[in-house]
Amino acid sequence: MLTLYAPAKINWFLEVTGKRPDGYHELVTVMQAISLFDRLDFEEASTPGISLTCNIDLGPPEKNLVYRAAEILRKAHAPARGAKIHLEKHIPHGAGLGGGSSDAACAVVGLNKLWNLNLPDARLEGLVSQVGSDCAFFVRGGIALCTGRGEIIEHKPPITKIDIVVLYPDVVLPTPDVYRDLSRHLTYTPKDCYFFHESGLLNALSVPKVVFNRLEEAALRVSPGLREVWGKTEHERSVTCRFVSGSGSAIAFVMMNRSAALDLARLFERRGLGRAFAVTTVTVGASESSDAGHRSVGGPDQAG
Ligand code: C5P
Repeated sequence: MLTLYAPAKINWFLEVTGKRPDGYHELVTVMQAISLFDRLDFEEASTPGISLTCNIDLGPPEKNLVYRAAEILRKAHAPARGAKIHLEKHIPHGAGLGGGSSDAACAVVGLNKLWNLNLPDARLEGLVSQVGSDCAFFVRGGIALCTGRGEIIEHKPPITKIDIVVLYPDVVLPTPDVYRDLSRHLTYTPKDCYFFHESGLLNALSVPKVVFNRLEEAALRVSPGLREVWGKTEHERSVTCRFVSGSGSAIAFVMMNRSAALDLARLFERRGLGRAFAVTTVTVGASESSDAGHRSVGGPDQAG
């Protein structure tokens, strides 16, 4: 049996630079893995094929990104092999946190280990990007500049660990709805990404200068639930900036330190604003342990 942890992400920067003939949008985005994890357990099976179970109702497993990515890998590289995968979800769905995409990346990383296939990361990235634009990032995780549909990845050196509160306002926001809304407003001049110009100095105080999300206004227009929570979280203590993560509905709050993050997460939950997670940036992708350095959400150091 093999256990791996699949981190969520936030986008420090996301600009949409155009619409493509295939209907997707051309992106420039800075993806960052954070210490909020789903867990995947892998076990060899004697019959060929993949079986998938989950602690919550997933609907038909064949539609799940984990199943689809696992089958793409199996058919291409190990058609005679079988595996049972159990998925334990902690990352909220429809939140712009990349949970499903990270789980899919974790599935190909896990099966590569379980079956001793020794495929290089670049091959795993190529396979998993067939099931979603931002899946490939999660094979190695950490921090990266992503372009194209989001699948062209340039990994970058880690930045200083930053404390973040992620607030999920209990509303599912479908990504296509947000892009569709943005398409009606493609009249801006795209912003340049200065994130890595600053990276040596980046911390909770300097990061607000380089944070931006083009999808934020569209997400707020599309989702009344997100708009309401956004309106109620404008002036929180010890927050240096806040932004919608990817296409939403989660909001990320950059915090001055860990204790302020824990306090704010508790306060948000007491105020009934949704589910709140005090997390940090992490340097990993799909991995056997979390490098969060202290308690992480859903990660191995959460146990007990
Ligand atoms: O690639 P993925 O299936 O994750 O994308 C989900 C949806 O998000 C797409 O169907 C599309 O509507 C939108 N999308 C986009 N441009 C991107 C990524 C996603 O329009 N670069």
